[in-house]
Amino acid sequence: MKIAIIQTKPIFGKVKINLSDSLAMMESTTADLYVLPELFNTGYNFVDLSEVQTLAEKSDGYTFQKMTEFAKKRNCYVVYGFAEKGEMFFNSCALVGPDRLVGVYRKIHLFYREKLFFATGNLGYPVFDLPIGRIGMMICFDWIYPEAARTLALKGAQVIAHPSNLVLSYCPDAMVTRSLENRVFAAMVDRVGIENRGNVDLRFIGQSEIVSPKGEILVRLDAEKTGIAVADIDVSLADNKFATEYNHLFNDRKPELYL
Ligand code: ACM
Repeated sequence: MKIAIIQTKPIFGKVKINLSDSLAMMESTTADLYVLPELFNTGYNFVDLSEVQTLAEKSDGYTFQKMTEFAKKRNCYVVYGFAEKGEMFFNSCALVGPDRLVGVYRKIHLFYREKLFFATGNLGYPVFDLPIGRIGMMICFDWIYPEAARTLALKGAQVIAHPSNLVLSYCPDAMVTRSLENRVFAAMVDRVGIENRGNVDLRFIGQSEIVSPKGEILVRLDAEKTGIAVADIDVSLADNKFATEYNHLFNDRKPELYL
C-alpha cells in the first residue's frame, strides 16, 4: 500500500485556493492513501468564532465533494482535516474513498485557543477496515496522550493517519515512540508557514513523516518547505506485536495496574 503525505502551506481563509493547491500536489504523485494536514483548507489560527462559522463545512460539503471526486478518479482514499459544522463546531478529519465518506474523527484533545472555538470530539477513536488496510485517525495534539494511539492500535489500526498543525517541536520525534510502543505505521502530516492573526503569531514546523511499526522514520519532509513524500508499506507488519519472542506488547499489558 502506498501512502502519500502532502505537506502544504495554506493561506488563512482561502478555501478554494488551498484546496486547488493541495489537489495539484496530490495529482503529481500516485498513492492508495493520501494524507493532508489538520484544517488544511481553512488555515488554523482563527481569531474569533465568526470566522469558524463562516469557514466550517458539513462533512458532505464542498471540500468533501472535491476530495471524493479525486478519490474516484484515482481509485484511492484521502484523509484531510477540516472545520466541521455539525451539531456544534468540531476540529475534524474525514476519511473518504471513491464517491463516499468512509468516516469522520472529531479531535478529542484540543490545543490552546482551539478550546475557544471547537467542541471536544464525540465520536471516539474509530478504525475503518478497508481493502488497503485498517485505518485509524487522530489529530495533532492527540499525540501527547498516548491513550489515543494506543486505543486505535488496540482496536486493530495498522495505520494511524495523523493530520497536524504543529507549533511545538516534540511531535515528529514522539511519533517514533507512538509507532514503536503500538507497532503501527503512523503518517503524521503537518503544514509549514506562519500565521500572524489578531495578537497570536504561530509558526508551523513541518517535518511530516511516515514511521514504521519498528519506529523507523521511512520519510520525513522539510521544516519550512511544502513537499510530498511516498512510502510503499506492507500493512501486515503492524499485526506483529512481538518486540522479542518473549514480549508481546499487547498481551503483556497489565491494565489492572494502570489508572
Ligand atoms: C495542534 O494540536 N494543532 C498543536
